[in-house]
Amino acid sequence: QLGETFSYNIMIIGFMGTGKSTIAKCLSEILSMEEVEMDQHIAEKEGMSINQIFEESGEEYFRNCESNTLIEFNSKKGLIISCGGGVVLREENISHMKNQGKIILLSATPETIYERVKDNTERPILRNNMNIEFIANLLEQRIDRYIEAADIIINTDNKTIEEITDEILRKL
Ligand code: S3P
Repeated sequence: QLGETFSYNIMIIGFMGTGKSTIAKCLSEILSMEEVEMDQHIAEKEGMSINQIFEESGEEYFRNCESNTLIEFNSKKGLIISCGGGVVLREENISHMKNQGKIILLSATPETIYERVKDNTERPILRNNMNIEFIANLLEQRIDRYIEAADIIINTDNKTIEEITDEILRKL
């Protein structure tokens, strides 16, 4: 019955490795809302992994897929959307997101992010740049956009999934 309380979408944004997918899944169970992962949705639609899309069609094509996916979700209600880390790169995406509900930003330090992503090879942006300095620079470039988009900001450093989820529920 909780799911019906939300007549809007909840979007989780933030840099790679801030825990967006994990937290979205957790929230969706607690709130009985449908959860969608943008990357997974795009990969299924394109019939390719995110790495393959970047390799074969390029980043610009992938960013177009992201924008189209957001437009597609615009007409839906009651979803928990775990967004790709680069979704804020296009200003128009930010306005699409603002129109469809609440935006929760998960934050973390470059050190925390590095520890969480270092063994993963599924992220084309980090694949050949897996170091704290690169992460810190990219985060620095994007931080204003993340903050511009966010309604609620939650720091995730040294916190459990449960603590992060509780904090979000209190602030929703
Ligand atoms: C990207 C983040 C990834 C994925 C793609 C690009 C980015 O999503 O969309 O690899 O530019 O930050 P996650 O944040 O879920 O890893």
